[in-house]
This record gives sequence, C-alpha cells and structure tokens, in this order.
Amino acid sequence: MSRLSTSCLVSRKGLGRTHSTASVSSSIFDYRTIKGRTYHSERYNSSYYAPNDERQNASVDITHHYLTLLLEGKLFLAPIKNPQKVIDIGTGTGIWALDFGDEFPAAEVIGTDLSPTQPQWVPPNVRFEIDDATQPWTWSDASFDFVHLRYLFGAVADWPGLFREAFRTLQPGGWIESAEVEVDFVSDDGTVDPDSALALWGRMCAKTGEKIGRPFTVLTGNVQKTGLEAAGFADIQSVDYKLPVGGWPRDPKLAEMGRYVQLTLENDLEGYSTFMWNNVLGWPADEYQIFLMRTRQELRDKKIHSFLKVRYVYGRKPE
Ligand SMILES: C[S@@+](CC[C@H](N)C(=O)[O-])C[C@H]1O[C@@H](n2cnc3c(N)ncnc32)[C@H](O)[C@@H]1O
Repeated sequence: MSRLSTSCLVSRKGLGRTHSTASVSSSIFDYRTIKGRTYHSERYNSSYYAPNDERQNASVDITHHYLTLLLEGKLFLAPIKNPQKVIDIGTGTGIWALDFGDEFPAAEVIGTDLSPTQPQWVPPNVRFEIDDATQPWTWSDASFDFVHLRYLFGAVADWPGLFREAFRTLQPGGWIESAEVEVDFVSDDGTVDPDSALALWGRMCAKTGEKIGRPFTVLTGNVQKTGLEAAGFADIQSVDYKLPVGGWPRDPKLAEMGRYVQLTLENDLEGYSTFMWNNVLGWPADEYQIFLMRTRQELRDKKIHSFLKVRYVYGRKPE
C-alpha cells in the first residue's frame, strides 16, 4: 500500500459527517522538522509539543501498555455496554482504538489525530481520520455512544469547548472518558529534590503550557471534571492513580508498571522536551544535554521514589 492510500483513511465520508470537505491534500504529510525530529504539518496551527516520528510513537505505544496495566487489563472505566459508535480523539498511533475494536468487534471505531501516524492495515471496524480536535467538530449531533480522550495535556487551549463538542456529538445515554497525567514528578517521602532535573520537568511543562496557552496542568486545574460538568454530563466519576516511575516499588505489579513508565520516558526524553526547552522557553542550549543526562540518572536511581498522578474522569450524557 502506498502512503497515498492513507488518504482513504482520512476521507471525509462516513459516519455522521455533516458535510464533505475537499480531498485531503498531501500537506498533512509535510511535517515540520526541528533538530532532526518531525512534528505535525504546518497545516495545523497547533504547535503540539511532541514529535510524530517512530521514536516518539514507540513511547506512545509503551504508554498504552503501562496504562492498560494500571487499569488491570481494562481499556476504560466507564460502564458502557454494547458500544456501537466510538471515537478516540487524538488517537496517536491508534493503539487504543485498535485494541478497543478488537475487544468490541460489533463497534465501529474511529481514531482522529493531527498526524497520519496510524497503521494503514486495520481491521474492518476501525478507521482513522486526520482532524484537528480543537476546531469545531464536523460530526453531526448524536453520532457516537462513546467518546474517548487520553493524554491530550499540552494540546488543548479550550477544554470546556472540547467537552461541549463531545457532548453534542454523543447520543443521549452515551459516555465520555478523559484520561490525563500531570507531568510533575512527586514523591511521598521527599526523595524528589526540588533542585533535581525531575522537578524541573514539572516547571518546564507548566511554563510551556502557560506560554502556548495549552495547559499541561490538567489535574491541578481539575479541567476534566469541571469541563464535563459545564458541558452537561451527569454521573461523573473521577478516579486518581499514582503511577510509579521506575522499578522502585516493593509491589511487583507496581514495579513492573514503573519500569514501563521509565522505559517510555527514557526511550525519548529528547522528543518529550526539546520543543519546550529550546523552542518555546528558549532556555540555555548548553544546559539542555546536562538536563537530559541528569534526568536519565535520576530515573535510574532507585533511591528516588517518584510517581506521576493520572486521573480518569467519565460521565454520561443524560437521556
Ligand atoms: C500523547 S499522544 C496520546 C495518543 C493516544 N491518545 C494515546 O493515549 O495512546 C497525544 C496525541 O494527540 C494528538 N493531538 C495533539 N493535538 C491535537 C489536535 N488538536 N487534534 C487532534 N489530535 C491532536 C497528537 O498528534 C498525539 O498523537
């Protein structure tokens, strides 16, 4: 299959579209290249901080693995039954959408993203489209019975607006679920030093979010719950988890999860941070490699008992 065939995957035909847009231009493949890493096309005015290349995509897939461990094998928490029409906003490599389609063969699953980084060969009940989720959604009212959004921190300026679009495009009785992490390494025993490289990540992300107007502090701001309430969702549940970073926990399951979190980060420390450090914040270039090196050392140091907070929030559109 040629790359062009991906344009089939981004066709505007199908489920719930209110209108058909022009054929997808090749410009979605015109990735921006910054310091040897590729980012989403200039066609989108998003400045999304993470690259869309293979190295970063591997981290997205490992993230899916540790989040599935976190939910003990489940893909979501919402009490959905017999889902038929499902959308995964900001699907990344599409790994969640593909797993969901596998678990629910009767469901039609769509994954959308700014970058066409999803596989080209997909099962018949899953498809991918290129779409900017921060623009008004082109889906008709009541198109879906489940809207899923995961790890969109740093990507969204108007969270309430995003949830309003989800509300509009959900059928009455349909569910939304939003899973987010706070990039802020913390510990319960004071082992994350405020002067450490790990602690600097939290400040770097928070400052980047302020500067680009797309918050990374989604948990601190409680934007998921307040946004769902404002949009009109009912039966909202918010569930917090501690995600260990590294193999330090005594509990073998937590240690396994922690090792995958460490692997995700170590696989692409540069991809996660270079755009923020060098392009958004303009911090001293000569300190960047030292920052990465110290981060790596601290991630491997079992005396540092750091964790990240993850929050799953779900709610139902009233009948
Ligand atoms: C950290 S990845 C998470 C991928 C996936 N949700 C998961 O959990 O496996 C965030 C994804 O959001 C996408 N994204 C960022 N801004 C977006 C936007 N405005 N519209 C659609 N997707 C966006 C990025 O391209 C990236 O693939």
